[in-house]
Amino acid sequence: MSIETIVLKAHSGWAYLLLIVLTIATINSLIGYFGKKEFGNKDFSLALVGLIVTHIQLLLGIALYVTPSNLARWDVEGAMGIPAVRLLILEHPLMMIIAVALLTIGYSKHKKKRVSQGKFKMLAIFYSLALIVVLSRLPWTQWLA
Ligand code: HEM
Repeated sequence: MSIETIVLKAHSGWAYLLLIVLTIATINSLIGYFGKKEFGNKDFSLALVGLIVTHIQLLLGIALYVTPSNLARWDVEGAMGIPAVRLLILEHPLMMIIAVALLTIGYSKHKKKRVSQGKFKMLAIFYSLALIVVLSRLPWTQWLA
């Protein structure tokens, strides 16, 4: 198996873990905020694990992006005019980077807040936005085919 295939399989499989962890962390922050709960160690760990899992996926994605067969996608005449190609070479990577940035901002803002409501609020806003961004630009058809 080539290194390229290994990176693709890793990026593809890690995405399942990411969606599960990010969904749990997001729902937990929404329940915490609307349920006016006390912010505890479990809430902190969920937010941190969500952040770490996503950053690992970012690294895998960058590695995948610079593989010869992906770089070759740019070379196709009028590549940007083909929706499936544009998704893989531009929309997906760009939107995932925006999602990682949103998570990082939310995580760092929640750490600066002193009270539970403030912490949950920051995580609820930024993690929800990040999850929506991720879901909006995954190559669903290719992934689940
Ligand atoms: C951080 C959240 C991300 C998630 C959840 C995610 C998820 C996925 C999934 C599920 C696929 C389809 C894999 C398959 O066909 O089996 C994929 C493909 C791809 N991703 Fe990501 N990705 C993320 C970030 C990134 C980033 C940051 C980049 C680039 C900088 C990137 C580059 C790519 C490329 C180039 C493909 C197409 C691979 C191919 O068909 O050869 N991804 N991604």
